[in-house]
Amino acid sequence: MKSLGNNNIHPVFDKILQREDKERLLDQRSKVIWMTGLSGAGKTTLAKHLDEALYKMGYLAQILDGDNIRSGINNNLSFTDADRYENIRRIAEVSKLFINCGIIIINSFISPTEEIRHMAMKIIGRENFIEVFVNAPLEVCEERDTKGLYAKARKGEIKHFTGIDSPFEMPEHADVILRTDIQTIEESLEKLLDYVLPRIKFESNQ
Ligand code: ADX
Repeated sequence: MKSLGNNNIHPVFDKILQREDKERLLDQRSKVIWMTGLSGAGKTTLAKHLDEALYKMGYLAQILDGDNIRSGINNNLSFTDADRYENIRRIAEVSKLFINCGIIIINSFISPTEEIRHMAMKIIGRENFIEVFVNAPLEVCEERDTKGLYAKARKGEIKHFTGIDSPFEMPEHADVILRTDIQTIEESLEKLLDYVLPRIKFESNQ
């Protein structure tokens, strides 16, 4: 019969489970894939394609997206500079929680300034952060106007609209740049996967 003495407590139960343990369980390395770009550049479309591609390869990811986060956890925030900063700060903190759970996070937020993106990177940690510039020129995004928001912004019905009367600073430190105006979705996805896959592969000697 097994003794119930303390000798039977395996050390693994003594310690709090670490990120590494969860990454091993999921057989993946956790990263934040941070998509920045104008509204209509294709961030959400690419996020969905990436999520699906990763899922099919056996990776667990979670998308955080401007429209859903802003109707939930951040529904008290507007589009002033200060609120955009707070929007991204909270998202970066939430991303950090996912990171500690071993999950890959796919973020799609305009995140319009270098200051905002830098703040997110600092919270998340450089080693966990992959910055992806989803780059389509303003004319193309405005032409697409998938949500009809550019037309409203031009008429003055929406204030502080990014690219119209609120700035978008070109990322200078992007790890990946996707030209969604000249590449197909499949081409952009392939380029993104080429960068991401080696970084999320779990190697136990890492
Ligand atoms: S961010 O600047 O704070 O990063 P976020 O990505 O969360 O923005 O939200 C952008 C989405 O909110 C856009 O895709 C668009 O649908 C909507 N939106 C509403 N008003 C604005 C605005 N003034 N500027 C930009 N996007 C807006």
